[in-house]
Amino acid sequence: MNILPMSIPDVSLASKPNSDDEEHEKKILTLLSDRYKEKFTKFPREKGWMSEDVYMYQGFWYITDHAFSIETVIAVQESFQAQSTDIYIVTQPKCGTTWIKALVFAIVNRTKYKNINPLNHPLKLYNPHKCVPFLETEIISNVPTYVHGNSPRLFSSHIPYRTLPKSILESGCRLVYMCRNPKDALVSWFYFANKLTDKSRTQMTIGEMLNVFVKGFLPYGPYWDHVKEYHKASSEDPTKILFLTYEDMKVDTASKVKRLAEFLGFPFTEKEVANGVVDEIVTLCSFEILKEVNKNGDYRKGMANNTFFREGKVGGWRNYLTNEMTQIMDDITMEKFHGLDISF
Ligand code: A3P
Repeated sequence: MNILPMSIPDVSLASKPNSDDEEHEKKILTLLSDRYKEKFTKFPREKGWMSEDVYMYQGFWYITDHAFSIETVIAVQESFQAQSTDIYIVTQPKCGTTWIKALVFAIVNRTKYKNINPLNHPLKLYNPHKCVPFLETEIISNVPTYVHGNSPRLFSSHIPYRTLPKSILESGCRLVYMCRNPKDALVSWFYFANKLTDKSRTQMTIGEMLNVFVKGFLPYGPYWDHVKEYHKASSEDPTKILFLTYEDMKVDTASKVKRLAEFLGFPFTEKEVANGVVDEIVTLCSFEILKEVNKNGDYRKGMANNTFFREGKVGGWRNYLTNEMTQIMDDITMEKFHGLDISF
């Protein structure tokens, strides 16, 4: 039985989470759990965050029984069929996924939405996670965000490079990877985890979050290995994998957006630049605008739209990490990224 609706494309952005969708997701998650449980319960297991246990699959840690879980990652890896025109955005959680999704969506679809009332641009109405769906949520979705006909298809994922579906690697499609200073990612994780609306979840201290972050026991951890693999893949084929940092994107965002558009195969014309189209996209996707648009509503059950918008700054970690915590993080980063041109 094929339970995985991965032939997807086309956006029905207006669909909101409802109880039918939740029921459907639960059903698919149960099916996936039945399918893979025997396999993954033999994998290395640790106490992690969000679920009793995290399991290691192909060198990275995952929670279970969730949209972003070992079950959905294996299902995506086994069944997802990429197309050569697809565009993938990959990140570690809390490294600016929401922002880069908005930018890519706005760049690629700028002609489509050129003549609409700017107030009706999808990014003014919906969470960027609705505009660019995660592979992990699409695979269990009752109403996949895309339907046939949209090209290029835009998807995102947190899946590590080594675990990507073969068809993504073989199709020759483009992939944008964005990472962020791990100290800011850690603090962002801390606030995100504690803000999730599932009150049954225990609140963590920053020290506890540091501990699981460093050990890699967060979904898709360890952070450093994830970044390193995409960095290597990008160095080997920069025409197919663009490696970005949140910090770099923050400095002169307009020129980075131009570079991103070129990489994606949607370069801005001189006329567009002269008419201020690049600046419009930068503004549309700015932290302030997106935060305002997403101040109400839920992206998924237990995950309010506003959980994805906190400070949106570089270097905020200075206000949250002690000297000792900073030293721990810096030591690991120095060791793991030694010899690589990754700087924040
Ligand atoms: P902070 O918690 O440091 O504020 P992700 O999207 O991967 O979950 O990452 C969330 C982080 O990106 C949060 O960081 C959030 O505030 C920040 N962010 C969200 N939208 C942004 C935007 N448009 N510009 C810059 N940062 C943004």
